[in-house]
Amino acid sequence: MSDETKVAVLGAGTMGHGIAQVCAASGYRVSVSDPTAAALEKGERGVRDSLDRMVAKGKIDGATREAVLGRIAWGTELATAVEGAGVVIEAVPEKMELKRELLLRVDGLAPPNALLASNTSSLSITELASTLREPARLVGLHFFNPVPVMELLEIVRGIRTTDATVDQALAFAARVGKTPIVVRDIPGFATSRLGVALGAEAIRMLEQGVASAEDIDRAMELGYRHPMGPLKLTDLVGLDVRLAILDHLHRELGEQFRAPALLRQMVRAGKLGKKSGEGFYKW
Ligand code: CAA
Repeated sequence: MSDETKVAVLGAGTMGHGIAQVCAASGYRVSVSDPTAAALEKGERGVRDSLDRMVAKGKIDGATREAVLGRIAWGTELATAVEGAGVVIEAVPEKMELKRELLLRVDGLAPPNALLASNTSSLSITELASTLREPARLVGLHFFNPVPVMELLEIVRGIRTTDATVDQALAFAARVGKTPIVVRDIPGFATSRLGVALGAEAIRMLEQGVASAEDIDRAMELGYRHPMGPLKLTDLVGLDVRLAILDHLHRELGEQFRAPALLRQMVRAGKLGKKSGEGFYKW
């Protein structure tokens, strides 16, 4: 790696700012880029809120909070973020063309030996890599929300991803304190495929009037010890994110992933969950 102390995170949304925080807390210098200033401001606020929470719980002290914030630079310029980076992680919305176009630009800007990664929840790493000059250096680094809390890092190996790239990804996982699993590039990987199946079924149950949203969630929380019921979790993840994953898995894997009509209607109404203030719950 050209400079293993710098990580570029592309996209300051829910996942992007969480990834930036975790990398900075692990001692990396981090550069976050997002085309809109408002998104950068919101992302920075998200990191501050999370660090404040950790200070309040006595998990870190004020000096550590300042050090983490001081290691993160925020800006709108992609080239600045990527310059000198040893690891580049894209965390932009779940749209193949958007991610592909961004990674193509990164391919021309990042140092030649930088690890390139996508935080995609379900899209094909093989396809994302197909237009790159060096498809061997692209890997999936799939984080989970809230990033500072969740232990897993799902490493997705595309058809052309090399062992050396997977080794770099494993070393990165160890450095940021996450437990890795390495999965093949099959739509939905090992996590989203099961996660959205449960979420979609809960929404269909709500459509059928099986029980209230609260009681469907309570069923899984108390009956199955899930930390959070599937509808609340859909609010946390973002209804638009889950709809995009379902639409993709429906095309790739078949009918069992058809998105519930209620989910599509709610997304059209702008009810995206926690980030918009309302989903299955009011936040
Ligand atoms: N930053 C820092 N700390 C945080 C935090 C944040 N953003 N959010 C929660 N925490 C901490 C809390 O301070 C608390 O710490 P202590 O244990 O020391 O008290 C701890 O996490 C638990 O939080 P809470 O007490 O507030 O609430 P909780 O016990 O209900 O836990 C939760 C909240 C961690 C979100 C838990 O409900 C949970 O694990 N939910 C499931 C989350 C999940 O499944 N995420 C994956 C979604 S799928 C995805 O992200 C991938 C994708 O592709 C879309």
